Amino acid sequence: MSLDIQSIRKDFPILEQQVYGKPYIYFDSAATALRPLQVLNAVTKIYKEFNGNPHRGSHYMSNQTTLAYEAVRDKVQKFINAPSREEVIFTKGATEGVNLVAYSFGDAFISEGDEIIITEMEHHANIVPWQLLAQRKKAKVKVLPITDRGELIVSELDNLITPKTKLVAVNMVSNVLGTVNPIQDIIEKAHSKNVKVLIDAAQGIQHVKTDVQKLDCDFLVFSGHKIYGPTGVGCLYGKKDLLDAMPPFLSGGEMIEKVSFDGTTFNSLPYKFEAGTPNFTEVIGMGAALDYVNNIGLENIAAYEHELLEYATLKLKQIDGMRIFGDADNKASVISFLVGSAHHYDMGMFLDKMGFAVRTGHHCAEPLMDRYGVHGTVRVSLAIYNTKEEIDKLAAAIEKVAGMLQ
Ligand code: ALA
Repeated sequence: MSLDIQSIRKDFPILEQQVYGKPYIYFDSAATALRPLQVLNAVTKIYKEFNGNPHRGSHYMSNQTTLAYEAVRDKVQKFINAPSREEVIFTKGATEGVNLVAYSFGDAFISEGDEIIITEMEHHANIVPWQLLAQRKKAKVKVLPITDRGELIVSELDNLITPKTKLVAVNMVSNVLGTVNPIQDIIEKAHSKNVKVLIDAAQGIQHVKTDVQKLDCDFLVFSGHKIYGPTGVGCLYGKKDLLDAMPPFLSGGEMIEKVSFDGTTFNSLPYKFEAGTPNFTEVIGMGAALDYVNNIGLENIAAYEHELLEYATLKLKQIDGMRIFGDADNKASVISFLVGSAHHYDMGMFLDKMGFAVRTGHHCAEPLMDRYGVHGTVRVSLAIYNTKEEIDKLAAAIEKVAGMLQ
């Protein structure tokens, strides 16, 4: 299906802005995607029309908010094909999801000497929580290596997994390399040795059709703002038997069944893990974002992004001194690069002044930077509203800046 990108672009009014008097060209969707009018309208509607604290009031507005909030749980369940709505926990983002599992699963299931396997291409959010868990429990974090092309050496899992291994935590898509990881293979390998798997889908949910039943992953986390939704909201999917066996993470209102000074019993799933007033406005906005993606079709979005990725890769490769990090066979629409001796910050700063939003730095993946022996890169990430014309302009701008910086 061919998409009407010009009409899609109209859904994103921010694209009409100018920066420094230049048209605004947004290539930083992997950091945070832009939000369409449909999401902005859904968020405004809550504040204007039915603000109320979900689950906490008998009044009309509170009930309306509860209905809208819980309807998003059903949408997420459907979007990721979770077996039940109780397995969908709202969080403030992928980072909180990983931390929840590291604390709660860690508390229940990790003991001294146990091992957690992560990979060389993880975001800090899927490294540091496991290091902290390892410190608390005297456990060990082991690392699955990658090839120079930026693909996981999955066969190494056979050597890394031991009877002490309890969990593999791996991203679905690398935020730096764009690699789409073979998570189905990883899950099967881990499960064959009775090891649980957490998938960090922060960079995957917006590009790859996600079916947690088919994957059979034990946990999966994602953030709303990477899939055209509001900030401050995300989801954790977990298998019911595991979530039931795990202690609460945050505690407070709504996650309880009965509180007395002699002790407290806890609410059932999913509320056991949703302490305090939820980010209900943003949750409802995230629901509108999922509707938006469903209306266009994730497969159509992915196909268009792939076309852009191939086009941009070809264009950028024509630039003298271009070095692209990540050349996996299966890639999502992320390109990290350096040109000649130009420093990534300088490149980013000049591109910014020319109207281009790109990300520079270590991308919260310092071990990956170490792997390639660099301090940082420039990263271009492409989404549904980008065009080939924008890529042409970017390639010309990079060439110009690289010439200035050599
Ligand atoms: N994790 C986000 C990124 O890669 C912020 O840019």
